[in-house]
Amino acid sequence: MTSSESQTALTELLEAAKRRFIARNPRSAEHQLIAARVMPGGNTRTVLFYEPFPLVMARGEGCRLWDVDDHEYIDFLGEFTAGIYGHSHPIIRQAITAAVDNGLSLASHHVLEARLAGALCERFALERVRFTNSGTEATLMALSLAREITRRPKMMVFEGAYHGSLLNFRGAGRTLNVPFEFVMAPYNDSTQTLELLQRHRSELAAVMVEPMLGSGGCIAASREFLGMLREATEQIGAVLVFDEVMTSRLAPGGLQAVLGIRPDLTTLGKYLGGGSSFGAFGGRAALMDHFDPRRPGALPHAGTFNNNVISLAAGLAGLTQVYTPEQAEALNRRGSELRERLNALCRQARAPLQFTGIGSLLNAHATTGAINAPRDLAAAHHDIEGLLFFDLVEKGIYTARRGFIALSLALGAAELDRLVAAVGEFLEAHESQLTRLSAARDAARAA
Ligand SMILES: Cc1ncc(COP(=O)(O)O)c(C=O)c1O
Repeated sequence: MTSSESQTALTELLEAAKRRFIARNPRSAEHQLIAARVMPGGNTRTVLFYEPFPLVMARGEGCRLWDVDDHEYIDFLGEFTAGIYGHSHPIIRQAITAAVDNGLSLASHHVLEARLAGALCERFALERVRFTNSGTEATLMALSLAREITRRPKMMVFEGAYHGSLLNFRGAGRTLNVPFEFVMAPYNDSTQTLELLQRHRSELAAVMVEPMLGSGGCIAASREFLGMLREATEQIGAVLVFDEVMTSRLAPGGLQAVLGIRPDLTTLGKYLGGGSSFGAFGGRAALMDHFDPRRPGALPHAGTFNNNVISLAAGLAGLTQVYTPEQAEALNRRGSELRERLNALCRQARAPLQFTGIGSLLNAHATTGAINAPRDLAAAHHDIEGLLFFDLVEKGIYTARRGFIALSLALGAAELDRLVAAVGEFLEAHESQLTRLSAARDAARAA
């Protein structure tokens, strides 16, 4: 088979997989039709949509999900990192029940606020913290604070980063962004980034960076790159913001603790609400205390549900009783081992497929080259990624359509083995197409 014949065969395989998906999931298809009458595309969260239509889940328990057509799945998506505890963990369930029993929406300060704030400050080395409803609000507040304090207009962000629905630097997402003046820099490229930092030095309020691009494909920043950002922002008087909304789970104290780099501000979210809406931003007291309402001229920061008791109770129980530092170490160790096993299979099969990431967060990419920035994904073979997704779904394994995997505490060794076996079967079943396409890529690269 030539490489173009392999491509045609691959496209046909993908189309056949989609036809099987349609046949297996009539109730999800019907739901899509009904929902599309009242919601644009039947959707209220873009990331969940894919063609021909997304699966509709009916319930979850532990690490299992059941869709409306009664198929059972192992949940390897873990609510895009927020579902670290598994579904309805008993400790979190109890904390939510107790909160409901004591009354919701009390329109007052609540004792749980300081307890969760204390746990977050201790865990992530923050001097002060404030809560929001989402990670999006947390990143917006951090940047707005930096702008207010420095009285400078510009924000440095990185190609392919995602900091929320209004701070989206992935492809077409940019058009809806907040109208800040952004300076776009290349991720993991210290030379060019430093040059941009120097060029805009007197106008930059903040540099916001994910220590590992999460939605951007689980691409880790080098320590050298982040260290350079720390040093340079200090020199030019810009606020360094680490967006750890996704990455704080990758070590007991977040990635910043592993790297030994302390940003001025950190943004948090996802699992820290114990499964409910949540976001937080915090860091140096000298910055955060501008929100101290006892101060003359204090900055306002409102939000009806900033202190909603369900998120406070679930978040506190989750962080202090379930995702303890020991559990964080163990889960991320399991994730690293899993990634090594998956990558060993891909190498053995000489397939153009690899799994990037750190610890418990992984992303499948259909390319063989080194991946240090989103640009390196330009050569990825999206049909292979699509085929892998539909193949895994058919085998009862639920991941993100884009190949993202976020492990939860509920996944045991047997479930991880199931994923490894399923990827092994996928590689074996499509060996000839994958090898051909890989060889063609190598030849093109060498030419
Ligand atoms: C790094 C990062 N920042 C911010 C956000 C936004 O968080 P939320 O979806 O809670 O608004 C996300 C969400 O995926 C994220 O991954």
